[in-house]
Amino acid sequence: MKYETIRLDGETLILLDQRKLPEKIEFFEAEDYQEVAFAISDMVVRGAPAIGATGAYGVYLAALEYDDLSENEFLNQMKEAIEYLNKARPTAVNLSWATKRMFNIIKKNSGQNRKALIRLLEQEANNIAREDVEINKTMAKHGNKIVPMSANILTHCNTGALATVDYGTALGVIREAHRNNKNIHVYADETRPRLQGARLTAFELVEENIPATLIADSVAATLIRDGRIDLILVGADRIAANGDTANKIGTYMLSELARVHSVPFYVVAPRSTVDYNLDHGDLIEIEERSSDEVKKIGSEVIAPDGIRVYNPAFDITPAENITGIITEYGIVKPPFVSGLRDIKDRRRS
Ligand code: MRU
Repeated sequence: MKYETIRLDGETLILLDQRKLPEKIEFFEAEDYQEVAFAISDMVVRGAPAIGATGAYGVYLAALEYDDLSENEFLNQMKEAIEYLNKARPTAVNLSWATKRMFNIIKKNSGQNRKALIRLLEQEANNIAREDVEINKTMAKHGNKIVPMSANILTHCNTGALATVDYGTALGVIREAHRNNKNIHVYADETRPRLQGARLTAFELVEENIPATLIADSVAATLIRDGRIDLILVGADRIAANGDTANKIGTYMLSELARVHSVPFYVVAPRSTVDYNLDHGDLIEIEERSSDEVKKIGSEVIAPDGIRVYNPAFDITPAENITGIITEYGIVKPPFVSGLRDIKDRRRS
């Protein structure tokens, strides 16, 4: 993408402000970990891999802030900062996965010269960001194999360069298929209530000249029933050990339509999105967001005061509705329990 989603500039984290897209290209500057946590919870930056990398930089900024504390105090403050960052959004496991990776560096190097530790933390955050792009490109290559020529692909939410450090997960596969001249066409769900499809996916599709049509979420059922969708590609925020997948609200509905109408339904996600500690999807915490997201479109109020709102940000797609999970280690097919276990400790070649 032309713009960088996440960039460290010295001791400032620069985030493309996704709340303003597509109307305005503006950048949000986070100077400390509290501002990083705010950026994640307010969705300046969003998408599971992107908030993972952002959280890692948040840990680095916290270390800069607590630089001159004694060993014990430093460790306690860093634990608190990590907990604070992890709470910014609870469903995407990539956030706690990344902050844990940062904490491991602290543990491994405890007692070391503080300046040296801080450099190591900066390096680790940069590694997480760099690896994310490599992983996305590898997933895209694996995923491209299952995209038929001239496919009509349905996607939900935004899983592109904006949801990652660059390239994207499900949208990365779409990008790859387009770059391989597969003559694809994309239907992008608008994705109420935050409209990530209309505001962000459409922005990326237009930027890359990928033939695409934006639809209201409720149009998807008709397209699928009419045989006008060959493939559904979505991302994931957390995948349980059995393959049950938490993703943007509305994904489960698409998976049921895919099952009923025999349309291949693939999840595209890095291994860092798999939570091996959770046996099944019912154990995944689903974030509930503000009622204003439903009662307003942008700043315009569309519902009366006094109406109750239910606004879960994610839902769970049961493993049995998923054709395959496209990872950087290849495409995991059912049964997912053994397939995901097989890639648990694998190294990327
Ligand atoms: O609430 P969001 O916009 O952070 O939700 C994003 C999604 O649900 C994505 O599909 C998921 O994070 C995978 S992004 C590569």
